[in-house]
Amino acid sequence: MGILIDKEVQMFHLKGKESSYIFHVDNHGHLLHDYYGKGIKKIPKNWLNSTVSRQWSPIPYEKELDYALDSALLECPVTGHDDFGIPMIEAQFNQGDRSIVLTYEDYELVHGKPSLTGLPHSYGGIEEAQTLSITMVDKLRKIRVELNYCLFEDSDILTRWTKIFNDSENEIFLDSVQSGGLDLKGSNYEMLQLSGAWGRERHVVTRELVQGQQSIDSNRGASSHEHNPFIALTSKDITEEHGEVFAFNLVYSGNFSGTVEVNEHDRTRLTMGISPRDFRWKLRSGEEFCAPELIMTYSSKGLGLMSRNYHDFYNNHLIRGVYKKAYRPILINNWEVTYFDFDHQSIVDIASSASDLGIGVFVLDDGWFGKRDDDTTSLGDWVVNEEKLQGGLKALAGGVLDHGMKFGLWFEPEMISRDSDLYRKHPEWVLRIPDRDPVEVRYQFTLDLSREDVCDYIIKSLSDILASSSIEYVKWDMNRYMTDVYSRLLDKHSQMETAHRYILGLYRVMETLVTNFPNILFEGCAGGGGRFDPGILYYMPQIWTSDNTDAIERLKIQFGTSIVYPPSAISCHVSDVPNHQVGRVTPLKTRGDVAMFGNFGYELDMAKIPKEDIFEVKRQISFYNKHWKLLQYGTLYRLTSWDNRKIVAWSKVSKDKKEAIVTVVKLLAMPNSHDIILKIKGLDPDSIYMLDGGLEAIGGDVLSEVGLLLPHLDDFESHQYYIKCED
Ligand code: GLA
Repeated sequence: MGILIDKEVQMFHLKGKESSYIFHVDNHGHLLHDYYGKGIKKIPKNWLNSTVSRQWSPIPYEKELDYALDSALLECPVTGHDDFGIPMIEAQFNQGDRSIVLTYEDYELVHGKPSLTGLPHSYGGIEEAQTLSITMVDKLRKIRVELNYCLFEDSDILTRWTKIFNDSENEIFLDSVQSGGLDLKGSNYEMLQLSGAWGRERHVVTRELVQGQQSIDSNRGASSHEHNPFIALTSKDITEEHGEVFAFNLVYSGNFSGTVEVNEHDRTRLTMGISPRDFRWKLRSGEEFCAPELIMTYSSKGLGLMSRNYHDFYNNHLIRGVYKKAYRPILINNWEVTYFDFDHQSIVDIASSASDLGIGVFVLDDGWFGKRDDDTTSLGDWVVNEEKLQGGLKALAGGVLDHGMKFGLWFEPEMISRDSDLYRKHPEWVLRIPDRDPVEVRYQFTLDLSREDVCDYIIKSLSDILASSSIEYVKWDMNRYMTDVYSRLLDKHSQMETAHRYILGLYRVMETLVTNFPNILFEGCAGGGGRFDPGILYYMPQIWTSDNTDAIERLKIQFGTSIVYPPSAISCHVSDVPNHQVGRVTPLKTRGDVAMFGNFGYELDMAKIPKEDIFEVKRQISFYNKHWKLLQYGTLYRLTSWDNRKIVAWSKVSKDKKEAIVTVVKLLAMPNSHDIILKIKGLDPDSIYMLDGGLEAIGGDVLSEVGLLLPHLDDFESHQYYIKCED
């Protein structure tokens, strides 16, 4: 394992635990990709890759008529000269031309993972990671491109990011800088993406590749509910256990695009990075631009292994802070209980009944500040509404603390209501186009976080509140997409930098606050899961997954989210029935079992639920608290496919394979039904296990190869097994 360099033939082999990624420099100095896939020892140069010219190929070297790059596998495709495929870099130079020719200059190999200034990034010490930087140059235009590859040796994770340096005297306009990508021979793959909308985020969607481009993107200013910055290219026989997967996840929270292009000679090319639409970056002489990091993994054992690669990696090398591996407390949030209608006493009452049941954190949601009794007003005025909350936050936090609970608070820091003191004072702080009225969404505008003064205001106003009382949890919300993207402080040639500068501003604000308040548990949120991405996870270890709390809808959302993100990042609450989003009635037990998929909590008024439900809630809390390590950090196995229409099942297995929890949820029952057998994955085949504390000992091989005969379950009923190895 490690990065192996054959200097003589200029070949680079990035050898992961079970994978190999190989490329080389050819005689003309072009960087050609040789292989990505299951680990191999060695491969001759150009074993499969070919630079043979075809009809209509551009011939870059006059004397070599059989040499062309338009169907070769390239490490960094560029535009305008010798390849018609989708480029990783597009730029316009001083004379108005757009053609780039990159040739190899040098490499550098360092131990450890360097940070990416101002951007979220994975991290790893000198024992854990090796980083290879390849420098390519366009000698004529004097730009330098640094292609960075970081290999994490204990895993099959490879990360890529791209930097561009302007060594010329003139300014350059960057029209696209993709973070990385992959060229593959053949197109016999499916593209798997996580797509949807508000309330139905990250459903698994697959499609076959055809000649041309197939892509996902967001141009909404956030990574979005609609498409997650993730693509997997899979073999067509893909299942949880079998098949080949190449996966890509961008560490970025703003506009992105991921494109897969099959060309006329069956070359598949994937690129991923900041969306080129509405992007144009002026790079002055001597400046550099760094594109966000792309996290790639390869699995030859299906989607399950791919997900587990990401989960371990994000838990070990992305998520930071005191909560990284710690217990994430069970919380109660008042949003679906009260919406905007509460006062000091009603909140203390909710907290008090929740604390009696063993819930650890009370979170006060929207409506505590300014004059906010509905969503039409006050965003930006981060001052407590003392008419509503007599005694202010201090008294309220005290009241919650008196019940032995921690206190948490909701903010929506990036937003401003038209009806707010802040807007009356600073209308110029809003993203807006000169002479045009900005568009409202939920009666609010987006603050211009590309401005330093706006970011400083957010840091100061939040810091003042956070320091003023005992706040131990923050829910950081963001409830609209960007329109009218224009910043007053940028010149007219730099306006297409605004969206990226906003995200850089946001990251600075988040970094400052999480550094200054290291003991607060921050949870990301964007109208539910509108910004569920690795960029946010770098600052906030967990994210509110969806505003849709219906247990059955959540199965699709949580399974889809777990394709990339670990359960410890996925927040799930038990809410009331009929469910507020879809009107469905499900048993409380099912709602609890489904919410135990990730970080557990409630949006229920415990004082109002029937007595028998109190027993069930108590059982859920004590079960979760007893098994939190397994439920939050155990290895996840999805035991049914995302499109199974009968049941949905998953298990969480401890790292030492001595314990597991298996959850099964019935979808719609069928008359005169068949037996359903569930094979439990991830156990040790040589160990003997006890099921649900029962008396019968069963081999791990039986549980995984023969399976369990499931009990009869009615519509939306669930069952949870606790499996423990015999000592
Ligand atoms: C968003 C969040 C909800 C809630 C409301 C409050 O929709 O996702 O959980 O906080 O805002 O306005």
